[in-house]
Amino acid sequence: MKYRTIGTDPQTRREVSVLALGAMLFGSVTDEKTSFAVLDRYVEAGGNFIDTSDNYAFWVDGGRGGQSEELLGRWRRSRGIGDEIVIATKLGARPLAPGTSYVDNAEGLSAKVIRESAERSRERLGLAKLDLLYAHIEDHEVPLQETVEGFAALVAEGTVGLLGVSNHAAWRVERARALAAAAGLPGYEVLQYAHSHLRPRSDVPESLFPDGSLGHAGPDLLSYLRAEPGLTLVAYSPLLKGAYTRPDRLPADFDHPGTPARLAALREVARETGATVNQVVLAWQIGGELPIVPLAGVSSVAQLEENLAAVDLELTAGQRARLDAAH
Ligand SMILES: NC(=O)c1ccc[n+]([C@@H]2O[C@H](COP(=O)([O-])OP(=O)(O)OC[C@H]3O[C@@H](n4cnc5c(N)ncnc54)[C@H](OP(=O)(O)O)[C@@H]3O)[C@@H](O)[C@H]2O)c1
Repeated sequence: MKYRTIGTDPQTRREVSVLALGAMLFGSVTDEKTSFAVLDRYVEAGGNFIDTSDNYAFWVDGGRGGQSEELLGRWRRSRGIGDEIVIATKLGARPLAPGTSYVDNAEGLSAKVIRESAERSRERLGLAKLDLLYAHIEDHEVPLQETVEGFAALVAEGTVGLLGVSNHAAWRVERARALAAAAGLPGYEVLQYAHSHLRPRSDVPESLFPDGSLGHAGPDLLSYLRAEPGLTLVAYSPLLKGAYTRPDRLPADFDHPGTPARLAALREVARETGATVNQVVLAWQIGGELPIVPLAGVSSVAQLEENLAAVDLELTAGQRARLDAAH
């Protein structure tokens, strides 16, 4: 395994594996035995960066979520896992009532929700301190200042380490960080967005959240990342939910001329290296100039093995240039 640092403050920064593991479907779609086997193998391979959320996976059983955090709590207890494993969770997108969704009934990012939901997450995970806590989606009702102060209060109390943000417009991330900096408070240091080698069109409804915000790391977000060396991008759905091996899964917003060109480059590099396309995508993210940590989900140990092997796949400068240039 290889590692990189997330965060800049010596008090809160952490060394995490360059491949993160998504636990979104653990405890719901993926059964406990398989989930534990995947988690055990990931840790055995040196992985220490696991991702969940307080709302995973509410859509599976029409509840409010929490199964993933609860499963991770049981796994931590049964294995005697301590703070060597970084578990990141999120709040803000938990539906307020069963049978509803974050689309129109999300808990949001008020100071009260931040305090109470973080506490529930700590209970489910069995953790005194959340290593990394994200704002999951935008809240257009609560003033950013309140959200910034709400998160910072938990850091000050020692119940949260690092702060992160997901699916927010780049300008909102910048504004929240500026508010925090001006007040001498900790701000978001980890940015979590959908990011893969194939790129979606951003001008079709499929690529937008229902509120019109964009979950994908587009050019604006990437340029922000380039300008702020202390930030890390955690790239969710790097394997496009399995679409590289099952093209029928490719969402409609990837239907544009750039997709065949980038797929051709990926396949060429896969042939040259003897790796799979999935591995080339992950290696391209891990070894690039920008600090990107791919966050892949898996439903079997075999898929995890394939993804773990990408950590040792070194692409040449020429291969990387071809992958970057294809469009
Ligand atoms: N911040 C957010 O809003 C947000 C949104 C979505 C996800 N996430 C996080 O990101 C994590 C990963 O996202 P994701 O599950 O959407 O996307 P992903 O990692 O791109 O896709 C995971 C799926 O791809 C398939 N897969 C994985 N490895 C494979 C391999 N080696 N060969 C063939 N197929 C493979 C599996 O599908 P099958 O199981 O069908 O075989 C697996 O369930 C989640 O667990 C969650 O923690 C965050």
